[in-house]
Amino acid sequence: MKDVYILAIESSCDETSMAIVKNGNECIHLTVLTQMDTHANFGGVVPEIASRMHTENVTMVLEETLKKANMTMDQIDAVAVTYSPGLMGSLIVGVECAKTIAYVCNKPLIAVNHIAGHIYANNLEDNNIVFPSLGLVVSGGHTEIIYLEDDYNFKILGSTLDDAIGEAYDKVARVLDLKYPGGPNIEKLAKEGQSTYKLPIPMNDESLNLSFSGLKSSIINLVHNETQRGNEINRADLACSFQTIAVDELTRKVELAIKKYNPKNMIVAGGVSANTYLREEIAKVCDKYNINLSIPKMLYCTDNAAMIGAAAYPLFKRGEFASFDLNGISTGNIFKF
Ligand code: KG4
Ligand code: ZN
Repeated sequence: MKDVYILAIESSCDETSMAIVKNGNECIHLTVLTQMDTHANFGGVVPEIASRMHTENVTMVLEETLKKANMTMDQIDAVAVTYSPGLMGSLIVGVECAKTIAYVCNKPLIAVNHIAGHIYANNLEDNNIVFPSLGLVVSGGHTEIIYLEDDYNFKILGSTLDDAIGEAYDKVARVLDLKYPGGPNIEKLAKEGQSTYKLPIPMNDESLNLSFSGLKSSIINLVHNETQRGNEINRADLACSFQTIAVDELTRKVELAIKKYNPKNMIVAGGVSANTYLREEIAKVCDKYNINLSIPKMLYCTDNAAMIGAAAYPLFKRGEFASFDLNGISTGNIFKF
């Protein structure tokens, strides 16, 4: 079969990213222009600023991606774009850009769900998702345990009832005076501390749902109360205590899902899968039950367009293209968030 080259666009949050992906598994070139430093000044992503910056940067990112890949649009078979979930204004910039390129260059358009993108990041770099698999999706907006039956045939087994794990990392980071995005900074600080603070265990139950807002609030209250009393907080210990409890809860729920569904394969996806402690703890559980574990390379864990190109490939093969009003989305719309 002829090789398939997909130009993929991701702009759902604060990264303007484009990539050219060959056959759904080989990233020819990935460009990620992050707005992180700008949003760090505000302690989190400001949606209005994010969409304005995407608008300023899309053309440059497109030029850079084609140039570095040493390719022209003539060699591209389809244009793929993240259509949901994400910040509305940010998504619109990527979607409009994809529609324009597809229209002008006469290429089919593929609409990709962002979470599907994180999942299919596991197909990049000679990896291959083996179905059926158990999936853990952990990002700034999502925390889900999913059963992956087949390509785009996914069932959500459990999800967070309140905050996403990445959101909890970011909010706890803010109260510890760490810069946005908080995840990597908490991870770094936690390495210098120990899990000494007694914090509430999120959900002491046997369901596959999760909850992080109680843990987050207890830390915010603790810092507030201790500061009021003039007591010093051991920030490294608190970061470590938070991370240990949050990750241990995720791991405990994954183990419950493993016992219930007996999978042979496990994938971890989403920005928080860049976390080394999480990677290590999930790996231990997988070892215990003799399960193959797949986690994307760090570069493909946080938001990037290569994962969108990877997720678009099965849709390309099936001929599932979106109409220019994006009404033609069927399988691409795998989650109803
Ligand atoms: O997938 P992603 O890039 O964007 C969303 O789709 O949300 O995930 C971003 C989230 C942020 O909350 C960030 O703090 C978190 O992933 N994150 C981490 C790490 N790297 C990124 N959380 C914990 N440890 C990390 N090393
Ligand atoms: Zn994401």
